Amino acid sequence: MAITAQEYQQRRQTFMAKLGQGTAIFRSAPHAVMHNDVEYNFRQDSDFYYLTGFNEPNAVAVFAPHHLEHQFILFVQPKDLAEETWVGYRAGVEGAQEKFGADIAYSIHELAEKLPDYLKGSDRLFYHFGRDEKFNQTILQHYQRLLATRSKRGTGPTAIADPGTILHPMRMVKSEAELALTRRATAISAKAHLWAMEYAKPGLYEYQVQAEIEHLFRLEGAAGFAYPSIVAGGANACVLHYVENNAQLQDNELLLIDAGACYEYYNGDITRTFPVGDRFTPEQRVLYELVLEAQKQAIAAVKPGNSYQAPHQAAVRVITHGLRDLGLLRGNLEELIEGEKYKPFFMHGTGHWLGLDVHDAGIYKIGPEKDDWTTFSAGNVVTVEPGIYISPYIQPAEGQPEIADHWQGIGIRIEDDVLVTATGNDVLTAAVPKEVKDLEA
Ligand code: GLY
Ligand code: MN
Ligand code: MN
Repeated sequence: MAITAQEYQQRRQTFMAKLGQGTAIFRSAPHAVMHNDVEYNFRQDSDFYYLTGFNEPNAVAVFAPHHLEHQFILFVQPKDLAEETWVGYRAGVEGAQEKFGADIAYSIHELAEKLPDYLKGSDRLFYHFGRDEKFNQTILQHYQRLLATRSKRGTGPTAIADPGTILHPMRMVKSEAELALTRRATAISAKAHLWAMEYAKPGLYEYQVQAEIEHLFRLEGAAGFAYPSIVAGGANACVLHYVENNAQLQDNELLLIDAGACYEYYNGDITRTFPVGDRFTPEQRVLYELVLEAQKQAIAAVKPGNSYQAPHQAAVRVITHGLRDLGLLRGNLEELIEGEKYKPFFMHGTGHWLGLDVHDAGIYKIGPEKDDWTTFSAGNVVTVEPGIYISPYIQPAEGQPEIADHWQGIGIRIEDDVLVTATGNDVLTAAVPKEVKDLEA
């Protein structure tokens, strides 16, 4: 099911065709320290991985379409049996060429010596200044050295540009193979949510539900969770990134679960909110129906040619209208929307691109004006996740009513992963129920 070598090669060709006389350089992800000398599992930088499929640290990928001999160059950790005994297998220099299609590969220790050869004939250097500060400095030094000698050589880069402007529009449109992996990630995520709905009951702790979900992720072959799982009973659901997951579930509360699996670098991102006990209370139910209607209308707005902002605008309209009907907002509907008076209840956007990163690379705004939003195209994958959160600490917007106690402590979000198709959309996470009748015992 993985991405084929041919597809990686095709991506590199498409990318290099847009570099002109430029050279692009990508650094692998840095190791993330857990504590002292223990590290988190290595996870490759998504841009690096998209172009190479190479999943090792301490590597550099170079793309030099103008170079006469080598256009795709990998610098990698060399084979070293003693090192590999401690920290795992390496492809090595030969593997980088044979398995990963590099025109030539070098040991990472040769970077300083070899890199200038691939830069000096370029007119621009494409490099994203990332988290590896030391490597940022290395690139700047190479650039400055070439700039200083350029007048004598007659060639060399005179600008540094971000490769994301070329690469990220490519990443926004998923290939069939990427969609197959996304479907697997979302199917595993959906299965875990279904089981969590069955398993959760009053008296259990949030972490017990979390454990069941994450157990299933791994059991199904996922690398693990795509982001720290949010399992939030009652008012904890009003904390958007609640991850403590240590409270006991109560009979009259809702449970919000925002959890997704990561499968072969692709991610699911699902939220469901349902009663811990058998039924919604009247307040929970009316707010739930409102979020559900907002989410359905937002999903209907996901189609090719529509503005990226159309789903959010649809959700805001439904939620603001509904909150006004309930007396939680007061005033003219258009003025409430224009003045963003809904924000104490619904303070986040309605979604994000989904792919190799959970908050995936890609463009949202295409210009400075209010309506300058990117438009959906077939192959985009986006989340649709409106919510209403009435925290016990809620501060109504200026001129708006105080919130009665019986509304407080209710947090609801419903999130699906939606593929834009040629004619509309396909909800990849539709297997997880969200109708009231399916969530009550
Ligand atoms: N779970 C992260 C998000 O929904 O954006
Ligand atoms: Mn989510
Ligand atoms: Mn999301």
